[in-house]
Parts: sequence; C-alpha cells; structure tokens
Amino acid sequence: MRVQEQARPAPAGGPRIPVRVFSGIQPTGVVHIGNYVGAIRQWAQLQREFESYFCIVDLHAITGSYDVAEFPQRVLDAAAANVAAGIDPNQSVLFVQSHVPEHCELMWLLNVLTPVGQLERMTQYKERSRRAKTGVMAGLLNYPVLQAADVLLYKAKLVPVGEDQVQHVELMRDIAERFNKQFGETFPLPEARLTKGARIMALNDPAAKMSKSVSGSYIALVEDPESIRKKVRAAVTDPGPPKKGSKLDDASPGVANLFTLLEVFAPHRYAEFAEAYHDGAIRYSEMKQALADAIVETFAPVRDRYAQLVQRPDEIRDILAGGARRARPVAQTTMEEVRKEMGLR
Ligand code: AMP
Ligand code: TRP
Repeated sequence: MRVQEQARPAPAGGPRIPVRVFSGIQPTGVVHIGNYVGAIRQWAQLQREFESYFCIVDLHAITGSYDVAEFPQRVLDAAAANVAAGIDPNQSVLFVQSHVPEHCELMWLLNVLTPVGQLERMTQYKERSRRAKTGVMAGLLNYPVLQAADVLLYKAKLVPVGEDQVQHVELMRDIAERFNKQFGETFPLPEARLTKGARIMALNDPAAKMSKSVSGSYIALVEDPESIRKKVRAAVTDPGPPKKGSKLDDASPGVANLFTLLEVFAPHRYAEFAEAYHDGAIRYSEMKQALADAIVETFAPVRDRYAQLVQRPDEIRDILAGGARRARPVAQTTMEEVRKEMGLR
C-alpha cells in the first residue's frame, strides 16, 4: 500500500511541475461524516499547501441507479456540502466532472492500456457486480479507468481518499507507469494519502463501512443535533466494560470505531476514555455523550453555511462554472500532449 501520511512539497531542484492534489466525491445521497473524516477534512488542509482539484464525479455516480430528475440537485448539494465543510473555491478548483469532457477522452485512451483482468480484480467492482440485479454494465468495470483519467489529466501526485479507494489509486499508478513506459515519461505516479479514520464504520453495524447507500449507517454532515445524539447513543458497543488491563487494539469494531471518531472530533477527551477502557471502568454512555457533543459542535457552522448556500443555487452554479473554467485548460494541455504521444496527430 502506497500511503503518504505527511504530504510535502516537491524537493528543491526536483521537477518544476507543482505537486498537484486531486480527489473526487460522488453526488449520490448525502455527504456524511465518513466522507468528512476520510476525505474532505484532508482536502481542506491540502488546499492551503498545494494546487488542488476537487471534483463532483457525476459520471461515476451514474454507474449506479439514480433518479434523473433529481440528479442535477444532487450535484449542487454535493458541491454545497463541500464548500460548507471547508473547500474554499478561491483556493481549490471545485468542479463537475462532466463539465470537462477531456475526462472521457483520456479514459478511452487509458482503456487501451488497462488489462481487463486487473479491472475484474477490483474489490469494489466485485462487490457491486455481485449485487447488480440487471446485469453488469461495462461502465461498472471501467469505473476505475475513468478515475485514473480524472487524476492523470491534471498530472496530480497526491490523491487524498478513504481506504476503500487505495486499490483504485494503485491501479491508476500502474496505468500511469505503463503509459510512461510505452509512450514516454508523461505522468507523475499518483499516491494515495490516507488519514486517521480512513475507514469509518457504520454506527449501527460496525462490521460495515459507513456508506451513503445504507440509510441508518451514517450521520450526515448537515444532520440536526438531536438526530446526531440519537444515532451516537444507539451506536453498537459492548454489553459492559472490558476486563481490567484490556488493550484498545483488541477492542470490538464498534468500540474501536467510536475511539477513532473521538480522536478526530474530541482529541482532548481521548486519553481520559482510553485510560478508563484500560482500567475496565469505561462507561460507554459517557463516551457517547462526549462524542455526540463534539460532533454537534464541529458541524454546527457547517450546517449553517450549507443552509445558506442551498438558498443560493446560482452561487453554487457560478462556483462550479468557475472551477470548470480553471480545470479545462489544464486538461486540454495534457490531452494535446497525450494525443501527440499516442500518434493521434
Ligand atoms: P464516495 O462517497 O464514495 O464518493 O467517497 C468520497 C470519499 O470519501 C472517498 O475518498 C472515500 O474513500 C471516502 N469515504 C467514503 N466512505 C468513507 C468512510 N466510511 N470512512 C472514511 N472515508 C470514506
Ligand atoms: N471513486 C471515488 C469514490 O467513490 C470517487 C472518485 C472519482 C475519485 N474519481 C476520483 C477519488 C479520483 C479520487 C481520485 O469515492
């Protein structure tokens, strides 16, 4: 697994291309605290240091079932949630994937150098194709090739994502390597960047990932405080405290998940509860109270900003149009280079 905990700018004397960051989020369902902890939180930090591209990946989202009439609103909601959670459209390039048609063009070219066997081995593909009720569409198989095109189009090196995307980043690295070997040095090799909490589990079922597609599994970024408290209170833990001397490393998945969330949202309370756990004296109800307070407090301003933004859809559309205007020339420059290298001119 190629993971970089601490991103650093390119060393002096290194290549002149700035280190770029790229990541994406699907406009499916609501943005939840798993997305925030695993992805958006690090995006908001990285944007201060690096040229950053954050993309609402509508072309990925349509590989699942979706409501056509509602879809445009979903895209706006996802953009608003990202801005509310700290993506600054002046600092980052925030845009919609389908607004930059070069993503599809590069995907086709990369398809030519992607082994089907490797796509068939992707965990997400295996899961989703197993669940597919009406046959497996080619778009599902090629999903990670589009994802590779997303990143390589901007020659991005850092890809801040949750753990479920690491395999896709490894694949894009392989594709980039193959391209460089076959057609000449073109793409920097992308690296996944994970943070603590790269895999937040569902509160109601800690064996499963917190996911937009499973209602009840997530806390939305803009959830009301009472509902947040209720879900945290109902989170699965153990029937009682552990034996004295127990190690947190051996905690059950539900308890471990709450500790991860506590470390992210209320780091100042972590040591106290960790100690209580070791001593076999922990009260999960108290820990849940502390965690719920911290989550409510963290997202109160996010919720307010989101409420204001969704009242002004034209402003969100302007942000996204501005993002596409900044992304497009970069994408076009890469495409010109790639077409030439592949003998298409
Ligand atoms: P998605 O909602 O699938 O488009 O994911 C957007 C980003 O959030 C990706 O980087 C995911 O890896 C990350 N993510 C999604 N679910 C979780 C989770 N439960 N824990 C941590 N990160 C997550
Ligand atoms: N597939 C990613 C997800 O489901 C979203 C995504 C699309 C992405 N393109 C990307 C993430 C490029 C990182 C880089 O979460």
